[in-house]
Amino acid sequence: SSKKLKKLAVSGVPIEESEIIKDLPRNPKVSGVKMLIKAAILNNDFLKYLEEDQIDTIVDCMYKKEVPAGTKVITEGEMGLHLYVTEEGELQVSKKGEILRNMGRQTLFGELALLYDCERTATVQALTPAKLWTIDRRIFQLVMMKTTKTKREAYVSFLKSVPLLQTASEQTLVRIAECLEEETYEQGQYIVRQGEVGDCFFIIMDGEVRVTEKVGNRIQEKRKLNRGDYFGEKALDGNGDVRTASCIAETGIVKCLLLDRGPFLQLIGSLQEMKEALDRRPGSLPRPRSEYVDEQILL
Ligand code: CMP
Repeated sequence: SSKKLKKLAVSGVPIEESEIIKDLPRNPKVSGVKMLIKAAILNNDFLKYLEEDQIDTIVDCMYKKEVPAGTKVITEGEMGLHLYVTEEGELQVSKKGEILRNMGRQTLFGELALLYDCERTATVQALTPAKLWTIDRRIFQLVMMKTTKTKREAYVSFLKSVPLLQTASEQTLVRIAECLEEETYEQGQYIVRQGEVGDCFFIIMDGEVRVTEKVGNRIQEKRKLNRGDYFGEKALDGNGDVRTASCIAETGIVKCLLLDRGPFLQLIGSLQEMKEALDRRPGSLPRPRSEYVDEQILL
């Protein structure tokens, strides 16, 4: 997923470096070139999930590199220092001497070694003189980080609106934000299944979640949860790790922020609000702020 990709891509870049993002070396380009680079990025399976502002920054920071026919732009097994987009020319990708494919205009290459911190997976050689656009590894990785920072800030401002976290300090919210993973679910999808072993905590960012509890043969609809509500805490509080209810995506798309057991216990489990919620009704989830649905459905 793009999430995983971003995590990999920022590995090894110290966090403070994101501060210098505004001073990145930008190179003005005509709009036709910008469109070409952007199209090449959107056409690449690994990079097409980047956010709009990341793509725009990469486009801005790329600079021109022209190479004569025969140039090995990338050599298999070497360390990757640049990412490329072709504007003109024909290049050949080969691995262990075997030709994999030829690439023409508007193609992005050299992304794998930068994204996954691995050696170049193939050799790329210019068959004709080629006009390329390139970005340095370091700059590329900083760009990948920038949105992580923007995201973190967005999470913090959302977390401030979460009732459970009203008394959490700014520092705690930042630490929570650093540990969050975003996940989306489709309507009807089980986010948490009763009886399963659970190891993470959920905060709803968008959509509605239905909580059901099976007692004997009956499925009781316990309640509905919305943006800012949370679930999944019971299995993490140290009394066994089995989910006490099922949580099902009720609306078209449900977006949740997930926190693993460790950070949850450390950052949220110790909040007074959470302690009270866990104490309130042993064996069931904390009472909702809004409506309480309790119709019984026969299996
Ligand atoms: P990287 O490994 O950084 O450097 C070599 C590049 O060749 C690689 O990134 C990809 O962009 C490209 N590449 C590798 N394998 C293939 C393939 N099977 N088909 C097309 N392009 C490839």
